[in-house]
Amino acid sequence: GRKWTEIGLVNEDLKDKEVLIRGRVQTTRPVGKNIGFLVLREKGFTIQCVLTVADNLVSRQMVKFATSLSRESHVDIEGIVSVPQDPIKGASQQVEVQVRKIYCISKAVPNLPINIDDAARSEAEIEKALQAGEQLVRVNQDTRLNYRVLDIRTPANQGIFRIQCQVENIFRQFLLAEGFVGIHTPKLIAGSSEGGAAVFRLDYKGQPACLAQSPQLHKQMAICGDFGRVFEIGPVFRAEDSFTHRHLCEFTGLDVEMEIKEHYFEVMDIVDRLFVAMFDSLNENCKKELDAIRKQYPFEPLKYLRKTLRLTFQEGIQMLKEAGVEVDPLGDLNTEAERKLGQLVLEKYGTEFYILHRYPLAVRPFYTMPCYDDPAYSNSFDVFIRGEEIISGAQRVHIPEFLTTRAEACGIEVKTISTYIDSFRYGAPPHGGFGVGLERVVMLFCALNNIRKTSLFPRDPLRIAP
Ligand code: 4AD
Repeated sequence: GRKWTEIGLVNEDLKDKEVLIRGRVQTTRPVGKNIGFLVLREKGFTIQCVLTVADNLVSRQMVKFATSLSRESHVDIEGIVSVPQDPIKGASQQVEVQVRKIYCISKAVPNLPINIDDAARSEAEIEKALQAGEQLVRVNQDTRLNYRVLDIRTPANQGIFRIQCQVENIFRQFLLAEGFVGIHTPKLIAGSSEGGAAVFRLDYKGQPACLAQSPQLHKQMAICGDFGRVFEIGPVFRAEDSFTHRHLCEFTGLDVEMEIKEHYFEVMDIVDRLFVAMFDSLNENCKKELDAIRKQYPFEPLKYLRKTLRLTFQEGIQMLKEAGVEVDPLGDLNTEAERKLGQLVLEKYGTEFYILHRYPLAVRPFYTMPCYDDPAYSNSFDVFIRGEEIISGAQRVHIPEFLTTRAEACGIEVKTISTYIDSFRYGAPPHGGFGVGLERVVMLFCALNNIRKTSLFPRDPLRIAP
């Protein structure tokens, strides 16, 4: 094959050398009939390509052909690298390619349903442009999602999904180093794993079945199977009814389950070290991506402590009470109370990342272990970024008779989970774990306002395409 050079790697070292590049047409500009400019883009890098009739390098027809190529078409260019005296505006690379040959390998339709430049502007830039009387269309969320393949070409979106990949990668690397084993559990299961109404039901060859709302039951069964510590990265399905900024019908779950020696705090210790390492690594290694996101969606870096703050639920509601917000001590926090507590925690402790633990048992799933000293509360926790939940976790009930009682008390049909309960009859260690929503982590780390921004092809109650 011929030697290809990535646009991001075409630089002064290649001066006077011939290169072969492939990219998308970002802009075209004819200057009279004898000169044309073309900016090509590849993986976020852009380069200016020049067509000049003067030195018999190209024909007038070629100038016309190249400068009338539609935006986002894919082209291959052969040419010589040159270094202009003046800095180049509107391209990342500070060198040019003097075009010899150009081939269009895929033509984009001339009227794209989304103008990518408009889709890439920040709210402040849009306001400024509108005030200056510029014609521009605000690209709304629905249009973006309808034409997602175009929308994800913006620098901010490229950054978001590279960050998402990093979060997943750090999660995996950290846990492997801590002796966890990566597993995969079935997504077609007989009974619902979390209970409640948010379950997709389906017909499994004549038997009623569900799409897994979490790997909960099977990750615990893996602990019964002697792995000691497991994690899973996989799809999670929730038949959510409400249309909110933070609920999807399908998301990616980062799940952990581990043996506990003495205390559910051992599980929170993993959360603590894992997420401090993750935030450190994102800040250190993803500067370019974070800058691209920040340019369109400005946000302040996340404030977090070296040792993650832990508050009990009771301490949390006491803080709310002092701020004039009354919360049922045996109920759950609603979204508004969670946000408010997030603010209070930030003011008092200077962190936007913290753990709230010892929740009332009544608001936790049936498999949650009650506190030994007060069964109205439980060995459970939620974790928050900027006042919104990203994780829930707990110690689990590993005593089969008690698990049956708890399931019945929570209105679960015990026979649909009998194989799960039976798993604890053959000897089961105390254990606990947690589940993280990947899209939520990215959304809240970057202070984005909608979870659809951090899901490549989001599924919500109104959307199953593209
Ligand atoms: O709080 P959830 O429902 O907890 C569980 O699934 C437990 N099995 C976890 C455990 O190990 N105890 O979900 C865990 C996380 C939430 O904190 C949230 O980040 C995310 O999953 N999540 C959602 N993300 C997007 N859309 C939804 N509809 C979500 N529901 C939960």
